Amino acid sequence: MTARIKGSAGALAGKPGTCFSEPRDAARALSAWFAKNARDLPWRHGYDPYGVWVSEIMLQQTRVSVVVPFYLRWMERLPDLGSLARAQETTVLKLWEGLGYYQRPRNLHRAAQILCAENHCRVPDDFERLARLPGLGDYTAAAIASIAFEKPRPAVDANVKRVFARLWDLSGLEPGIIRNIKEAVLLLMESASPRVVTQALMELGALLCSRSNPRCAECPFQDICLARNNRTQDLRPRPAIKKSPTRVTLAVGVLANRGRFLVRQRPASGLMAGLWEFPGVSVAEKEDREKALRRLFMQELGLKIITDGLFRSVRFSYTTFRVTAEVFFLRPAGSADAKTGPRLRWVDPAGLSALAMPAAYRKLADLVSASETDRH
Ligand code: ADE
Repeated sequence: MTARIKGSAGALAGKPGTCFSEPRDAARALSAWFAKNARDLPWRHGYDPYGVWVSEIMLQQTRVSVVVPFYLRWMERLPDLGSLARAQETTVLKLWEGLGYYQRPRNLHRAAQILCAENHCRVPDDFERLARLPGLGDYTAAAIASIAFEKPRPAVDANVKRVFARLWDLSGLEPGIIRNIKEAVLLLMESASPRVVTQALMELGALLCSRSNPRCAECPFQDICLARNNRTQDLRPRPAIKKSPTRVTLAVGVLANRGRFLVRQRPASGLMAGLWEFPGVSVAEKEDREKALRRLFMQELGLKIITDGLFRSVRFSYTTFRVTAEVFFLRPAGSADAKTGPRLRWVDPAGLSALAMPAAYRKLADLVSASETDRH
């Protein structure tokens, strides 16, 4: 039986943010629901601040079920701030491989180094210091401050916004509304543990108050939810207008020489910074792919190459890009062995699997390694 609460969401139409008429009852019902329904997630065992931090960074734009195995592997290799600060960047990126958004592990790494230099390898417990660390904005700092340190700081993510958009039956989520949501969360935190309030609201949004088919009959707020009352759940919040994706075609060259392949490292900043990939170049629709590759290898890498035909076409997406990579096998026209550099390496299949690569290139590298095995 779901605990029912009396009162109202307090949103006299057009005047949201008066919040709950009975915030103590709401906080109690929410806490009771969480105690019964919280998922058993590894970062909830002991609430070690470092573990909470790692989990919050991994969970940005990524589902819990995807994060759990990455989190467990990461914590086994890098169990505390000190081990992270001392780790090689290649180790850190490799542990993140597959999660995407590679600036995040680089920021985590840098933040650990800062904290080991300045704060005895300890995660600060106050919001302002947290929010100044690389990779931490107000939301993540509030999530860590409340979940790890029980500080009353409202962490309002997309799940929490959806819960309140329905409670108050709001179509838009303008900045003023977000301020009201934060005030409402703070009010709940006066009557219940901040750790529980933050996680319970996120959990409610993820498990019951989901974007489609919300399970209102199980919700602790069902009696005070205006959207439920008005049967507008499916309209709340109004979906954001999606930007249409940008289509990109890449010609990618897999240069093979005596069982090894040439890979290059992406620049230290920007998209997928520091990851390894086969060299490639963006091409126009009608452009000759092989010619573009010959030019790339000559101009950027100083290598004359022979193209060995299309290996395959691979499609992938990241952020708002839809990419078609047309992948060619290449051979050096002369001696290529000497061609290396800090961001350029010849690696065998075992070396390929040890490098951190963007997910699409990882798949491609596995296909290349398999075809190499087949050929021998
Ligand atoms: N999403 C963001 N933070 C979360 C957490 N601590 N637990 C579950 N889902 C989350």
